[in-house]
Amino acid sequence: MNGFIGDGGANGFNEVGAVYADHCDSARGRLRHDLVERRLRTELPGRPVEILDVGCGNGEMTIRLAMAGHHVTAVDPSARMLSAVAERLAARSALADRVRLVEAGVESLPFDRERFDAVCCHGVLMYLDEPGAALACLAVLVAPGGLLSVLVKNRRSLGVREALGGDYVTARRLIEAEPRTGVHADSSAGRLGLMTRGDDPVVLDRLAADHGLVPLPWQGVRIFHDHLDDTWSPEPEVYAAVLELEWAASGRSPYRDVGRLVHTLARRPGRSRT
Ligand SMILES: C[S@@+](CC[C@H](N)C(=O)[O-])C[C@H]1O[C@@H](n2cnc3c(N)ncnc32)[C@H](O)[C@@H]1O
Repeated sequence: MNGFIGDGGANGFNEVGAVYADHCDSARGRLRHDLVERRLRTELPGRPVEILDVGCGNGEMTIRLAMAGHHVTAVDPSARMLSAVAERLAARSALADRVRLVEAGVESLPFDRERFDAVCCHGVLMYLDEPGAALACLAVLVAPGGLLSVLVKNRRSLGVREALGGDYVTARRLIEAEPRTGVHADSSAGRLGLMTRGDDPVVLDRLAADHGLVPLPWQGVRIFHDHLDDTWSPEPEVYAAVLELEWAASGRSPYRDVGRLVHTLARRPGRSRT
């Protein structure tokens, strides 16, 4: 199915795991996870449920969801990423029986009969050639009443980070690129040094609907603070104000359209499992 647009798929992540972990610890990284977790908490039931986290990386969202009481199956094709999750879990023994680790990619998920109350795939599709095949693999695993949560690079805001950073040539190329024209004319190297591509939330909503899910309102993520670097280190009260500002803007156009990332959600109709 999908080819990896970067250089080496999961192996690419085997090399950049430490850099990614540092990013997750930064205020910029935390902002993204705080916003996505907040939205998930508003959509998930108050009781513990079964969650699949595909492309779990170093397990930041897996751990947050397990800490909220959920049972999480964390999947990643990178053995190094999974061992980073295992290491983090070892320091949190209370979570051990709430998290299961599985080495696999989105294209080879080994869950024939299992269905999940939520299927998350955050920060993964941007590394794949196109979103359709992955969406199909994820959607089929959503139980009745369950949620599909997908976080991608926002196709609508390509070039904004580059323009604000003064890289005007790249910004213009990205802004002028038609989707899927040229050889990845709309792709650029992300901060991890891997090539990434963007998706339009309306296209993802349509794909989810094609698989019988009902799209929910999408949110822009990291609208005003994406162009900063990972050394940005606001005081706690400033961070709290930033979080509230970003949250307020995340669901409102035109602000949400220029978020670096976009969080789309869709629900499978039906009664959720008790
Ligand atoms: C940027 S990290 C995102 C990690 C985490 N989901 C988060 O939001 O912090 C991307 C992850 O996708 C994983 N990945 C790469 N190719 C994949 C594939 N085909 N299927 C599933 N995950 C993949 C990488 O190994 C890496 O851990």
